[in-house]
Amino acid sequence: MRDDGLVLPGSTIGVLGSGQLGRMFAIAARRMGYRVHTLSPDEDTPTGQVADLEINARYDDLDAVRRFASAVSVVTFEFENVPAATAAAAAECCPVRPSGQVLHTTQHRLREKTFLSEAGLPLTPYRRVDSLRSLRTAAFELGLPGILKTADFGYDGKGQFRVETEADLTAAWDGVGRRESVLEAFIPFESELSVVAARSADGNFVHYGAVENQHVNGILDIAIAPGRVPREASRRAVALARQVLEALQVVGVLCVEFFLKRDGSLSINELAPRPHNSGHFTFDANVTSQFEQQLRATCGLPLGSVTQLCPAAMANLLGDLWANGEPDWAAATALPNVKLHLYGKMAPRPGRKMGHLTALAPTVEQALADVTEARARLTRRQ
Ligand SMILES: Nc1ncnc2c1ncn2[C@@H]1O[C@H](COP(=O)(O)OP(=O)(O)O)[C@@H](O)[C@H]1O
Ligand SMILES: [Mg+2]
Repeated sequence: MRDDGLVLPGSTIGVLGSGQLGRMFAIAARRMGYRVHTLSPDEDTPTGQVADLEINARYDDLDAVRRFASAVSVVTFEFENVPAATAAAAAECCPVRPSGQVLHTTQHRLREKTFLSEAGLPLTPYRRVDSLRSLRTAAFELGLPGILKTADFGYDGKGQFRVETEADLTAAWDGVGRRESVLEAFIPFESELSVVAARSADGNFVHYGAVENQHVNGILDIAIAPGRVPREASRRAVALARQVLEALQVVGVLCVEFFLKRDGSLSINELAPRPHNSGHFTFDANVTSQFEQQLRATCGLPLGSVTQLCPAAMANLLGDLWANGEPDWAAATALPNVKLHLYGKMAPRPGRKMGHLTALAPTVEQALADVTEARARLTRRQ
């Protein structure tokens, strides 16, 4: 890195983590002439397949992390559950963006919720739970139904247990592995929204607007952009997202997930300090994708235009689609306004994110209809 903090094209960027987010980041980085190294415990990974170098090491192998960080100009990450010690070891050797502090706050539900409530931001009522006894007290105080979530290492609805009545408490406590957790009140939301936003080292803020998200079994299924939500809710979601990025002093991309409640108010569900599944449409629909924005912020370049060129809808492709053999790619790509993204993962396990489709159309209704049709064609047998 130069004295002015710029990491210019031709330099090498290190990515901690090796999934699809790193893969799309690496594609954006390579397009702009950067080289990419990735480190994770796995081999032949989605990121590794498009990176210049794939390092296979555990995140707690701090010597390997230091060697990795010494060979690059700047380190970013695509996986927020990298241990704090890993980010700290990397930071001994080169700048890490976003900072280990952002990671530390957002990788633990309790620290994240404490940060949000101290910042005066609206969040779902919750209680910390560390025993069956404290779970009973929490259920009494919050009321049921609720959702018990592990404090750390949750994603795609994993580590979450719905508690309908007091009879479910023991099973939920066993379900989270009897470890530190959060009981949240169940929110009967009108819809779910997210705002993906970016902030540069010099404090510029940009965002991709409020996206409407539909989940199935706790996993994002469909994202619709722009979201079909009242203008005031969308304006407020963006203002809240801005507050979050500024309070955390994020340099990079961060997504804020919201519940839009029936009374029109918003609660923050959770934060993701990186590009987000609900922002994948930006790869095809926006002048600058969320991945290029992460690259620009990480490298100290000015942020790019977030202008969305046309309405879009994204549908995830989970491993379940492979249940009866290889999906019919030709049938789905026969819709010319639908873009196919596959992540290079070998084993299509149920619930595993294997890829996504993005439809671009003159209206969000048309984009939604087309992406739904394209996905249905993958498994429709003649
Ligand atoms: N308190 C809640 N009330 C209602 N639905 C919830 C609540 N918490 C989570 N969910 C549902 O489960 C999904 C996944 O939960 P989330 O906390 O975002 O976990 P993950 O880290 O797995 O994305 C949410 O997008 C939402 O659909
Ligand atoms: Mg979530």
